[in-house]
Amino acid sequence: MSATTRPSAPTPTAPGGLPLIGHAHRLARDPLPFITSLRRYGSVVRIRIGPSPAYVVTDPALTRRVLVTEAAHFPKGGRIIDALRLFFGDGLATIADGEAHLRNRRLIQPMFNKSHIADRGDAMIRQVRAMVEAWPQGAPRDVYADMNATTLAAFLVALFGTDLPDRLESEFTSLMPEIMEGTIRQTILPSWITGLPLPANRAHAARVARLRALIDQAIDHHVHRAAHPGTDGTGAVPAQCPHAPAPPTRQAGLFAALLTAETPLSRRQLQDEVITLLTGAIETTGTTLAWALYEISRDPGTERLLRDELALVCAGRPLRHEDLDRLVHARRVLQEAIRKYGPAWMVTRTASRDIELGGHRIPEGADVVWSPYLHQHDPEVFPAPDVFDPDRWAPDRSQATRGSFLAFGDGRRKCIGENFAWTELQIILATILQTWPRIGVTSAAPSAQAVVTVKPDKLMMTFSSEASG
Ligand code: HEM
Repeated sequence: MSATTRPSAPTPTAPGGLPLIGHAHRLARDPLPFITSLRRYGSVVRIRIGPSPAYVVTDPALTRRVLVTEAAHFPKGGRIIDALRLFFGDGLATIADGEAHLRNRRLIQPMFNKSHIADRGDAMIRQVRAMVEAWPQGAPRDVYADMNATTLAAFLVALFGTDLPDRLESEFTSLMPEIMEGTIRQTILPSWITGLPLPANRAHAARVARLRALIDQAIDHHVHRAAHPGTDGTGAVPAQCPHAPAPPTRQAGLFAALLTAETPLSRRQLQDEVITLLTGAIETTGTTLAWALYEISRDPGTERLLRDELALVCAGRPLRHEDLDRLVHARRVLQEAIRKYGPAWMVTRTASRDIELGGHRIPEGADVVWSPYLHQHDPEVFPAPDVFDPDRWAPDRSQATRGSFLAFGDGRRKCIGENFAWTELQIILATILQTWPRIGVTSAAPSAQAVVTVKPDKLMMTFSSEASG
């Protein structure tokens, strides 16, 4: 029987709601225990965020109906998406379902196919290695900040090619953390506050305007280099010294595909797509890597396995893109970090009409919430879900988890960057382990903070060349 025709049963409401704010205090104070606790009340559970009801889907089979088979009745939307749209514009992640989304997705999808990413793999490795090698030996580092900076740098190389001027790269790097923080603030606070001319709101608007200007310059640089391959994009004439070493071969970025599309996007649309891709690409992979490094540093057995695998595959030489498929254990460790820590913990849709889902009636216009984090912490599918166990992903055990690993979503709004994410995650993890024989945590055990992604509250680590005993 279809989920749309089943007779409706009373939908359980999560306990602990307060007048006026509903469950907003639980979502603000202890969101992860709260959201995972909802499973015990039923497959669809009603909560209130302020005065508005939202329906949380706790059964992965029903989530797939929302995302795939009945997606037409659950378009992308909700309060968070509306708030993000102010910043992302009509980028792929926030644009409403429909023709424009499909058209842009068709345009962008080829940028992220496996062969295009593979072509940029070695350039990404060079970029990541240069950054990781520059870390001073043995000094405690904020790993969450480092990982976000590294994923950003790798993404910029892939997107805009190998010769983006240093000035642009360093300005992107200093601007993005502030932009992410400001965006989180804008989505959490009510719109009447974010609309006021307060200093924090004005500063955020100014940074977003600066980011758009930077993206414009990166696009101009790309266009100029495509038209004048012999120059550096700044108008300067390249040095002609016959004894100068040959410059490294320049490689165009994935972005070239967007500029040469048959029906080109406007400048504003290009900006929106780059902002969307930047914000989608950095923190999701950055937090995954920070957590993976933390878990590896606590488990000498896992660390040894990873180092042995790398030694066997690379045989003492630096990593190459072609090695990635053979780093099987590294992939399991990363998948387990994604499972255990989200990174997405709350994603929304809107019911486009009154609809039945799993025997529950959802009214038109209501927010429908699904959570990869919730599904990936189901003890029936992932026994002892709080234990970090990369072997869950060994072929003989992973069959049983099928259907509950929804970290990248599903259906027409599924993550477009999944292939890219796996490549980038493996490159960065392998490069860090190859560069630094010893890693260690110097701060207290971090707590998981659910903001946009699930991030460590504080994680300081050291990297040194003295091998562990
Ligand atoms: C560990 C890494 C990542 C995770 C866990 C992740 C997760 C997700 C999820 C759950 C969605 C679906 C949201 C929904 O259903 O509404 C999504 C969409 C999206 N992701 Fe990712 N993502 C990751 C990395 C990336 C990367 C590296 C990029 C860019 C290269 C990216 C770009 C996007 C975009 C543009 C969308 C919107 C797609 C659409 O609506 O058509 N993501 N991601």
